[in-house]
Amino acid sequence: MIIAPSILAADFANLERDIDMINSSDADWFHIDVMDGVFVPNISFGMPVLKAIKKLAKKPLDVHLMIVDPDRYIETFAKLGAEILTVHFEACNHLHRSIQKIKSCGIKAGIALNPHTPVDNISEVIQDIDLVCLMSVNPGFGGQSFIENTFQKVEKLRSIIKEKNTSCFIEIDGGVSNLNSSKLAKCGADVLVAGSYVFNAENPESNIKLLKDI
Ligand code: DX5
Ligand code: ZN
Repeated sequence: MIIAPSILAADFANLERDIDMINSSDADWFHIDVMDGVFVPNISFGMPVLKAIKKLAKKPLDVHLMIVDPDRYIETFAKLGAEILTVHFEACNHLHRSIQKIKSCGIKAGIALNPHTPVDNISEVIQDIDLVCLMSVNPGFGGQSFIENTFQKVEKLRSIIKEKNTSCFIEIDGGVSNLNSSKLAKCGADVLVAGSYVFNAENPESNIKLLKDI
């Protein structure tokens, strides 16, 4: 299992400390949530913060864009050091073009699906992408409750990937904790994003390990 702690839940007054914690933990990636206040009802952070994170992070940056018309910024985020760049299905009019644009920057392309979006919607582009991010909460905020319907979406997506004879990561984002991690693994998840479960813990590193060791 790949573990990607979400920086959104970090202490921004102690960002260096929290980044170092992830660097020395069992976590695999940094999950970076960029929100524009239009696609989602919240604004998080943008390029200057990403630049600062990139300077200190020793693991790949998994950048999740929750912004409208993300094509405008694909090149910018690639240049800032995103290794994986994920755009929302619901935010792209020409999804195939957006995917090609990400790949032309030489980085991995991901598509995120809101809880209401059926997984079948991406079956025609699944061969072209490296990751599908299934939102297990409505995007915009950390600390929300996991939506149980996600389990069956993971299973369905796993069978589409098999049917198409392709490979791509299934990432779960929102409300992930030790209460759902093993069931998510059984259903076919490859990557777990966790914000509050990691950063609100007394011992963040041991919670990362608990997710990792399932
Ligand atoms: C939600 C973000 C998530 C969020 C997860 O819009 O995409 O990555 O930070 O936070 P938790 O784990 O607290 O639900
Ligand atoms: Zn996210």
